[in-house]
Amino acid sequence: MSADAVAPNGSEIAGVGEARVRICEVGPRDGLQNLVACIPTARKIDLIRRLADAGLKDIQIGAFVNPQAIPQFADIEAVAGGVRDLGGVTLSALVPNVRGARRAVASGIDTLVFFFSVSRSHNLANVRQTPEASLAALEVIRTDVLPGSEATLRVDLATAFGCPFEGRIAAETVLAYVHRVAEAGIGEITLCDTVGVGNPRQTEALARACREAFPEIAFGMHFHDTRGLALANALKAWEAGIRSFDGALGGLGGCPFAPGATGNVATEDLAYLFSEMGIETGLSPEALLAAGGFLRETIPGLALTSALARAGLPVRHPFPEHPATEGPSTRKIR
Ligand code: COA
Ligand code: ZN
Repeated sequence: MSADAVAPNGSEIAGVGEARVRICEVGPRDGLQNLVACIPTARKIDLIRRLADAGLKDIQIGAFVNPQAIPQFADIEAVAGGVRDLGGVTLSALVPNVRGARRAVASGIDTLVFFFSVSRSHNLANVRQTPEASLAALEVIRTDVLPGSEATLRVDLATAFGCPFEGRIAAETVLAYVHRVAEAGIGEITLCDTVGVGNPRQTEALARACREAFPEIAFGMHFHDTRGLALANALKAWEAGIRSFDGALGGLGGCPFAPGATGNVATEDLAYLFSEMGIETGLSPEALLAAGGFLRETIPGLALTSALARAGLPVRHPFPEHPATEGPSTRKIR
């Protein structure tokens, strides 16, 4: 009973073979941050290596935050030390403040991902400061922490689609913060749907507005699949010219300081979406699924929410044996 793998459907689509998407893996950070159990350091290192083996070239390995706030990342220095030798992979980590940025640089992190929420209340709940104070910290990081290091800086704007405390966030608010961050000389900005409330039309409009107003900025998108719209949002963002997306293996994730937050869009589902359309991801779906199996082994009782983990890759099944297949139908017609 062998089953043949089915070729991606997009391979025949003329003209799209050249297109390529960048998928950034945030599973070791966003995926693990709200788990109750702390994963042993060696397993985290193993997971990151498996993700790299699956073809991921951008991996967020954790966060340099207060270990009292998120105990999962108390071992971030040891994790960074355990994966530093990974060649050809950009290792990034989340930093909430100047202290976190200094720790990240000292650990040899390639890309510091500085984050703050465009809604005041979520920024206060999450990093205990106003967006203005976060922007001031960004300036210190840029002028005092980064010089002399080879690290680059990306900025993530959280709650860019909606806030758990303030509801829908207007595109003008997001654009105003993009402007402030661009003014600070940052070239890469990711818009995050922290609580999964964005819809495809909103995504398309926001992506187009951002790209039009700031053509020099490389924008990325970070979706949570809280209400099942993450892939639709990703597709609309792609159509609006976005070429970089965050995903978390298995669909894990969620901000511990955002009530109602659930998992990220699963990396393997994002990869499947794009590769089926003939867009190059550079990822091995089999290796991603195997890494998901490793996650399940690591975290007993964990249910992966990704569609691909549930259904597997499409296969061509043998037609079931049935008398009707052996000749003219013998079934009585009533
Ligand atoms: N790394 C390690 N420790 C840190 C730190 C960092 N980046 N920033 C602050 N601290 C420590 C301080 O040294 C201080 O320690 P002490 O109590 O032993 O003196 C303590 O944390 C409080 O410092 P303070 O500057 O008052 O920070 P805070 O309590 O206002 O917390 C954050 C601010 C951002 C550090 C904290 O809220 C945090 O880490 N939040 C995590 C947010 C997050 O990751 N959310 C999920 C992503 S969406
Ligand atoms: Zn997230």
